Amino acid sequence: MSALIALRSYLFRYRVAMIGGFLFLIIANGVALILPYLIRLAVDSLQVRTDPGALLRFGLLIVLVGLVQAILSYYGRFIQAEVSRRIEYELRADLFKHFEKLELDYFQHNKIGDLVARAINDLTAVRGLLGPGISNLLNTTVAFTATIILMLTIDARLTIYSTSVLPLISVVFIVLARKIERSYKSVQDQFGEVSAQAQENFSGIRTVKAYTQEEYELHAFRTANQEYVRLSIIYARFYALLWPAMYFLAGLAAVILLWRGGLDVIEGRITLGQMVQFTGYLAQLTWPMIAFGWVVNLFQQGSASMKRINEVMDHQPTIVGPEPSLESTNEPLRDHLEGKVEFQHVSFSYGDREVLHDINITVEVGSSLAIVGPTGSGKSTLVNLLPRMFDVSKGQVLIDDVDVRKIPLALLRRQIGYVPQETFLFSVPLAENISFGLEALDTKRLQEVMQSAQLTKDVEDFPEGVTTMIGERGVTLSGGQKQRTSLARAIAKEPAILILDDAMSSVDTHTEADILKHLQRVMQGRTTIIISHRCSTVKNLDHIVVLDEGRIVEEGTHASLLQLRGLYAEMYRRQLIGEELEDS
Ligand SMILES: Nc1ncnc2c1ncn2[C@@H]1O[C@H](COP(=O)(O)OP(=O)(O)OP(=O)(O)O)[C@@H](O)[C@H]1O
Ligand SMILES: [Mg+2]
Repeated sequence: MSALIALRSYLFRYRVAMIGGFLFLIIANGVALILPYLIRLAVDSLQVRTDPGALLRFGLLIVLVGLVQAILSYYGRFIQAEVSRRIEYELRADLFKHFEKLELDYFQHNKIGDLVARAINDLTAVRGLLGPGISNLLNTTVAFTATIILMLTIDARLTIYSTSVLPLISVVFIVLARKIERSYKSVQDQFGEVSAQAQENFSGIRTVKAYTQEEYELHAFRTANQEYVRLSIIYARFYALLWPAMYFLAGLAAVILLWRGGLDVIEGRITLGQMVQFTGYLAQLTWPMIAFGWVVNLFQQGSASMKRINEVMDHQPTIVGPEPSLESTNEPLRDHLEGKVEFQHVSFSYGDREVLHDINITVEVGSSLAIVGPTGSGKSTLVNLLPRMFDVSKGQVLIDDVDVRKIPLALLRRQIGYVPQETFLFSVPLAENISFGLEALDTKRLQEVMQSAQLTKDVEDFPEGVTTMIGERGVTLSGGQKQRTSLARAIAKEPAILILDDAMSSVDTHTEADILKHLQRVMQGRTTIIISHRCSTVKNLDHIVVLDEGRIVEEGTHASLLQLRGLYAEMYRRQLIGEELEDS
């Protein structure tokens, strides 16, 4: 329950509405208690047999009171529901904001599905607690206490007899509802399984067909689907039991009342009207008893879910910018970087495993650096340290002689154009994909950028040019087109430092040569870092670093590296042979 403390600031913000809603509900409950009393008066008046018109008056009065009660409880519930929706909205917005601040590592170590579940299912459970949970808790307490008091004023013994089975209603409800809940969860999980299987099959349809695995996949799907139905039937069984059980117990209470109350009327201890009034109260008690069981469940689920949400919210982002402190204002606030890059004795570990060892590199402003090396040697990891996707374990990464951890995160990332190894495009028009994170580009600038990335010709063939939708609801780009779009996105930022992580692997060598020619112009006076497996890509760059198993094993220019006759020269020789074979 302590998990719920996190909710207090949200609740406090809506205190007026909450209290208003409570008042409506309390008054509505009070008005409801008048109804059985009116019915008693009506019944008792029958025995006196005076005025048939009185019956009509009673009837109208009952309708009126019922109407007032209905309106009040409508508003009470509505306000409560609205407040709970608004708090849910704020919680979800805060949660998403928090997610966006968390470091890359967090997402790699938590299942995305689980994070999404917290933002959806758990929040829904918390809303259940805030809405029906709180309002029914209040309703139940007020209605229960008031009704019992009124019953006691009529006849204490009869009250004890007739309410004796009522606690059973709460207990049975709690037990059954919990079983239903658990069973429902397993149905949901299995449904997730079924839909994940279908989704993976549709996304991987190419592979499934190419390996003629349709039958096998069909069988796997059938099994998952059968399990889903089996669990659903168990759920239906529990669910079907719930209300009949409630009605049965309520009926039992009514029978006891009929028997004991009937005797009381026969023996003249109470009037027939009072007996009818009693019946009305008993009926009114049934719902609070059920609601009480419900409230217990809502609170348990809500606080368990809140705990899961708190777990995320309490995780502090590990990669944050420097706190802007007033003392450091002797240095003018900068809005751009020059682009000098330096790695000083940099080591980096993923968990316990060190994958970069004592790396030292300096790249002057406006020059270009190539990083080559076998797969898994740590090239991507190294460049990830620049925009602080991760922070170094030892040593320092400097830009313009300042440790990157001392540069405001927004400035740092704005000044780095990073084309990651795996391209990611959003399902929005092409132009928006290119200007991602920027104000929309004007047509001229967009054309320039696309020209630099050699994208112009491709776009001419798209049905709607630069406004063509990308992805599921639009055109599917080829691997090379995706890479060039991603490249255009980085160029459009006009970054001080451009990083291409194997960004042209799906582009043919001729197009690549054209891109490089353009880049030279675009990147004049800026720093470029290019990771590649092709010597042809990097041979004209100013400095080449060869990484192997996280260490720099060779460095120099293309010519000097060839003379070394080491790893690089060997790589070059093989690629030359490959090219000759292609050309012949
Ligand atoms: N998020 C991660 N968590 C743990 N280990 C990782 C992670 N990313 C990479 N590694 C490991 O770090 C090492 C270096 O990986 P990295 O991706 O930097 O290699 P790379 O040189 O870019 O390879 P490639 O040429 O295939 O892109 C590899 O052994 C890899 O298994
Ligand atoms: Mg890589």
